Amino acid sequence: MKVLVTGGTGYIGSHTCVALQAAGHEITIADNLSNSSPEALARIARISGTRPGFQALDMRDAPGLEKLFDAQCFDAIMHFAGVKAVAESVADPLKYYSNNVMGSIALFDSALRHGVTRLVFSSSATVYGENSRSPIREDAPVAPVNPYGRSKHMVEEILTEMCRANAGLRVMALRYFNPVGAHPSGLVGEAPVGTPNNLMPYLCQVAAGRLEELTVFGTDYPTPDGTAVRDYIHVMDLAEGHLRALEFLESHGGMHLVNLGTGRGTSVLEMLTAFQRVNQVPIPHRFGARRPGDTKETFADVALADRVLGWRTQYSLDDMCRDAWRWQKMNPKGYE
Ligand code: WQD
Repeated sequence: MKVLVTGGTGYIGSHTCVALQAAGHEITIADNLSNSSPEALARIARISGTRPGFQALDMRDAPGLEKLFDAQCFDAIMHFAGVKAVAESVADPLKYYSNNVMGSIALFDSALRHGVTRLVFSSSATVYGENSRSPIREDAPVAPVNPYGRSKHMVEEILTEMCRANAGLRVMALRYFNPVGAHPSGLVGEAPVGTPNNLMPYLCQVAAGRLEELTVFGTDYPTPDGTAVRDYIHVMDLAEGHLRALEFLESHGGMHLVNLGTGRGTSVLEMLTAFQRVNQVPIPHRFGARRPGDTKETFADVALADRVLGWRTQYSLDDMCRDAWRWQKMNPKGYE
């Protein structure tokens, strides 16, 4: 298929591009490069042997979208383009509703008018409320508590209404839990701008000596070791889930919401211990207070992904730690 990958130079998008090309799809990336590097294009090409098509484009640029869809005919869209930092979304909600909601509306409007009817949307487990009990199923209450999560849920709702209004539309929204790791080649990976907020990139930079020490946020949670539990999923498992979603849409119409996670919870301490063991590298760390807004435990119920996509994660926690560290060592300053 000829697939438009918006946000394809970003973390999840670039890894999905590698998987799409490996599966024989032809891809064109549209990205405004606001939170990613064009170097990712060269890296994707080094892995696959084929340089993806690229169009610098902001999703809110309606004329630019028209030009793109007039020039190229796509069989499907994978929509990753957006902003995704929870704390930033609280400080700057308009940036999140503008990029994630207005950008998606402009994309869907142009795509629909150009006859593109298959869409995979990059959503997030942040749409579930803080009080959702894990394992979380797709029919759990949706109650996002920050503008980032609300923007993702708004786009899911828009897509649901579009599917009601357009019988031919085929949409799958994938709700990611905690993506970590990198392609085993170490050529593409997570390259956060500035100091990372997320655990794994922060931990990698401490291991590399770029950051002094890791603070474990909270040791008094009602969990086995007192630290918070998450569903960390290898980014290559996530990429494979997108391929399965595309295949599913070949024969299914309407709107579908699916969790992508391992179905298992891992604590901060377990991740820290695994990383040090697998990579034989010490991580200076201290135990601090809880981070405001954090939940004690969040992990996915993945029965639906297994049933409808025939998909289960293949990579282990050790793989996640090994591949994240290889990327960090090979790219101390990300794509710079
Ligand atoms: C994981 C755990 C922290 C850093 C967020 C977004 C979510 C998704 C993934 C986009 C928590 C602890 C972290 C540190 C720590 N992003 N931690 N010390 O908050 O589960 O999810 O990122 O889709 O939408 O909400 O991920 O990696 O920030 O934190 O102890 O220096 O690691 O308290 O328990 P989170 P995270």
